Amino acid sequence: MPDNRQLEIDSGVGLTALMVAAARAIETHRPDSLAADPYAEHFVRASAASAAWPTRPQDVPGGDANPLWGRLGRYFGLRTRVLDDFLLRAAKAGIRQVVLLGAGLDSRALRLGWPRGQVVYEIDRPGVLAFKEHVLASLAVEPSSPVRGVPAARRRVVAADVGDDWAGALLAAGFDANAPTAWLAEGLLLYLDPEVERRLQRTIDVLSAEGSVLAFEAKLGLGSPAVRANPVYAATKAQIGVDLLALFDRKPRPDSIGLLRGRGWSTTVRTPFDFTRQHGRGPLPEPDDALATNRWVFADKPRQSHVLGVSVPTFRDC
Ligand SMILES: C[S@@+](CC[C@H](N)C(=O)[O-])C[C@H]1O[C@@H](n2cnc3c(N)ncnc32)[C@H](O)[C@@H]1O
Repeated sequence: MPDNRQLEIDSGVGLTALMVAAARAIETHRPDSLAADPYAEHFVRASAASAAWPTRPQDVPGGDANPLWGRLGRYFGLRTRVLDDFLLRAAKAGIRQVVLLGAGLDSRALRLGWPRGQVVYEIDRPGVLAFKEHVLASLAVEPSSPVRGVPAARRRVVAADVGDDWAGALLAAGFDANAPTAWLAEGLLLYLDPEVERRLQRTIDVLSAEGSVLAFEAKLGLGSPAVRANPVYAATKAQIGVDLLALFDRKPRPDSIGLLRGRGWSTTVRTPFDFTRQHGRGPLPEPDDALATNRWVFADKPRQSHVLGVSVPTFRDC
């Protein structure tokens, strides 16, 4: 691959896509796995930056006590499962259009069992998606090949920065703003300038037909100096060269939840720990916890008939 395309995945925030892929590979092979991603380890092996990272629980130094691949890895495994379930519920409710914002190396289009006619748009920076396509092509994965006997969704790759005119690129790729959409921003907003996040939420609203749903991960703040000294940050920097605290945007976060509510969306805010308790696996609170300010937000844009008080069931997360 040309070096410039490789570089976007091999450095900066692009490297976090490989980090999450490695965590998903490890999760796949845990005896008590919450999510299986057979593509993840291929991505990790294909980049020189990550080829030596662990992709199996038995390869993790220190096992579950490892702050990066243990607790944070479990967090990513839980997040994957919760958001898999969110998207599949949306598909079951009849939503045939999914948009993954900051899709990275997400392979949901290929690995989940979708209804016929499902379309999954994957938006990320050009270099990240070029790397992804290169690896998938080497695995001979066709966009609509059957995966474990179920039809895969049609993948539509949209190379765009969410700070630019990503909406134009999405519409040009075939997105239908008159049809309800399931949106997902997983592991994205914490890296964005607040104004980019505000614009992103506004654009999502404008492009969302009634009945659309949205899930996103928010980090309400980076916490006290003691939280920023949590071993997970030093371990991530030392083990894989990813300085998360330097990559997270440090400005005060915008009130995305309030913005959505102001535009008529209903929202449900959960902590990851809620889902740990629900699934019986995943991280629980710890002192000076780096995950304490993480929230998973589920929102839906009610149908007009619902707003008018007519009893029409709408999709709700939980
Ligand atoms: C932590 S990864 C998460 C990837 C994927 N959502 C997942 O959970 O596997 C963050 C992703 O956001 C993408 N990203 C960050 N800033 C972006 C921007 N301004 N425009 C588009 N993508 C961006 C990165 O390239 C990277 O793939």
